[in-house]
Amino acid sequence: MKHLFISLVGLILALGSVSCSRERENPVTEQRQQQIDSLKNGKILIVYLSRTQNTKALAEMIHQQVGGDLVPIELITPYPENYQVLVAQAQREQETGFLPPLKTRIDSIDKYEVVFVGFPTWGMQLPTPVKSFLTQYNLSGKTVVPFNTNAGYGLGSSIESIRSLCPNSKILQAYSTRGGIERDGIFYVMEGERRTQVQRELEQWLKNLNF
Ligand SMILES: Cc1cc2nc3c(=O)[nH]c(=O)nc-3n(C[C@H](O)[C@H](O)[C@H](O)COP(=O)(O)O)c2cc1C
Repeated sequence: MKHLFISLVGLILALGSVSCSRERENPVTEQRQQQIDSLKNGKILIVYLSRTQNTKALAEMIHQQVGGDLVPIELITPYPENYQVLVAQAQREQETGFLPPLKTRIDSIDKYEVVFVGFPTWGMQLPTPVKSFLTQYNLSGKTVVPFNTNAGYGLGSSIESIRSLCPNSKILQAYSTRGGIERDGIFYVMEGERRTQVQRELEQWLKNLNF
């Protein structure tokens, strides 16, 4: 009888520890659940800047997976076609703090809970048109999800810029990948094998972020 009692107590303690360790492995708090629901159900806006269409291709793939509204960031005065002239102009804008006026208009930014922001790296910085967008629209209280293409040198200081332009937003982990190298005459690369690979990486990234 005594043995049976000890065994029962042991079993109860063992079951308790299993359920506790399960909770520790997978602690979905109420706040976390709310965040997951908001990511899944909140109205989504995907904005992007793209010149040679690589970032645009990512934006479209993200759009296919999460839905929402897809909007290009366009300027009132478009940038020059010539790459070297653009590089010089982009650098001048960064140095002087010039924010190019946007043709893009978002009807009601308030209805969005999640804003994906896509951009190429320019001069190892966040391009000024994206700075214009983040300055013009108040993303306080929203979730901001950055994504990027670059020529292989990474994001530079762009995430720091997004943080300082959206001080009251929740900034999620960015997705960044190699796009074109316009300097070397390599323009659009999001096709064939490369496209399949990026598509797979995007799916995993979105899954990790709970979309
Ligand atoms: C003005 C300009 C500046 C750039 N500066 C950089 C840079 O500093 N680092 C980098 O890795 N790529 C740089 N790139 C390359 C782009 O980030 C890359 O080609 C990107 O995939 C272009 O995206 P898009 O096709 O959406 O325009 C630059 C491109 C341009 C046009």
